[in-house]
Amino acid sequence: MDKLVIEGGNKLKGEVVISGAKNSVLPLMASTILTSGVNTFTNVPDLADVRTMAELLTMLGAKVEYHKGKLEIDSTGINKWIAPYELVRTMRASVLVLGPLTARFGKTRVSFPGGCAIGERPVDQHLKGLEILGSKIIIDEGYIETKAKKLSGNIIPFDISTVTGTENMMLASVLADGETILLNAACEPEVTDLANALNKMGAKITGAGTDIITIKGVSKLKPIKNYKVMPDRIESGTLMVAAVALSADLVLKNCAFENSGAVIGKLIEVGAEITKVKGGVRVKGTGKLKSVDITTLPYPGFPTDMQAQLMTLMSISRGLSIINETIFPQRYLHAGELRRMGADIKLVGSSAVVRGVDGLSGAPIMASDLRASASLVLAGLIANGRTDILRVYHLDRGYDRLDKKLEQIGAKIWREKE
Ligand code: EPU
Repeated sequence: MDKLVIEGGNKLKGEVVISGAKNSVLPLMASTILTSGVNTFTNVPDLADVRTMAELLTMLGAKVEYHKGKLEIDSTGINKWIAPYELVRTMRASVLVLGPLTARFGKTRVSFPGGCAIGERPVDQHLKGLEILGSKIIIDEGYIETKAKKLSGNIIPFDISTVTGTENMMLASVLADGETILLNAACEPEVTDLANALNKMGAKITGAGTDIITIKGVSKLKPIKNYKVMPDRIESGTLMVAAVALSADLVLKNCAFENSGAVIGKLIEVGAEITKVKGGVRVKGTGKLKSVDITTLPYPGFPTDMQAQLMTLMSISRGLSIINETIFPQRYLHAGELRRMGADIKLVGSSAVVRGVDGLSGAPIMASDLRASASLVLAGLIANGRTDILRVYHLDRGYDRLDKKLEQIGAKIWREKE
């Protein structure tokens, strides 16, 4: 197993090309179950999660090939409908096959995802939606089984805003009889990316990006060609935080300025200078680090996937910051590791109180989930001395060679065997 080693305090400068979005490519890959033929995607990040989804699709009968950002999925041979525990437990997003498999085969057996390092993560809204579309739901030996002759369009009013829940219901209803209306749908840009791709395949979806999405069922979808996955707004947000924390001047290319409003707003409040440049964003840390309060919210609010990174920044900012995590109230495993590096963080229920300190000091620390590991990489870059981050596989699930990208702009970061 690899660990990451960082010698902190190096100046960063230069340009980074942002990769395609993990949370967009995973549902896009699941969408190919609805087609029969060769689908191709570009700007696909090289991630462990993409490989897991490829493994799952292969197990279902697809042929998947990945080469330098291009992903080819031949869905012609898909003839199985079981997503086993071994894969679902390594990646919760496997639950995204529930909708399309039910639509294609009228049945599926998908392992129940259960909780994970960031807390309890129920899928009741996915199940409720499928029931409304006419599927039977049976829970059997830790598996979710669906059974439906043919799904029929209906109104699905979500109790809460759920990203993969919205995506799963879009995937389930595109081939259903009649019209489906998703109420209180998630507005995340990744949902819109999926809707755009499905429309290119022949679906009739309107309203994506708002909380009311209408899907008029069609009889068939055709495979998609060269669909470009949207840029990863969490990778760009993470690098923006690096620039601010280290008073660096970074240009992030292939980066979506428009859908990073809440993060950009907070970083400007902290003291950064952020400008839109051709094809991306320029972020200049000014050396001023002022504490800000953060409440995580569904899009367009401040994303929970940036909470850990902001906590690292707040741990060296002047003053007191209150972080309120409303999406995953227990998503604070990074706090204990940051404390080991000298941060002053107190957890009170689903909130964290962070009192800025003068600096962090390098230490051996442990990554516990994807975004927590990103926050620890940031902490290692800031800290005095050497930081060893164990269990780096968490980072590789969702960041395309973050260490290499940081090295290219001046960080002292490398891998060693644990
Ligand atoms: N929820 C329910 N019932 C459901 C579904 C969700 O109560 O049936 C709750 C969750 O427990 C949570 C809230 O609703 O409190 C929102 O969860 P959501 O369903 O939106 O999360 P998700 O779809 O499982 C996606 C991302 C996460 C990201 C969240 C929130 C993917 C593959 N994953 O998860 O990404 O944190 O939305 O934006 O899109 C990550 O990339 O590190 C990551 C965890």
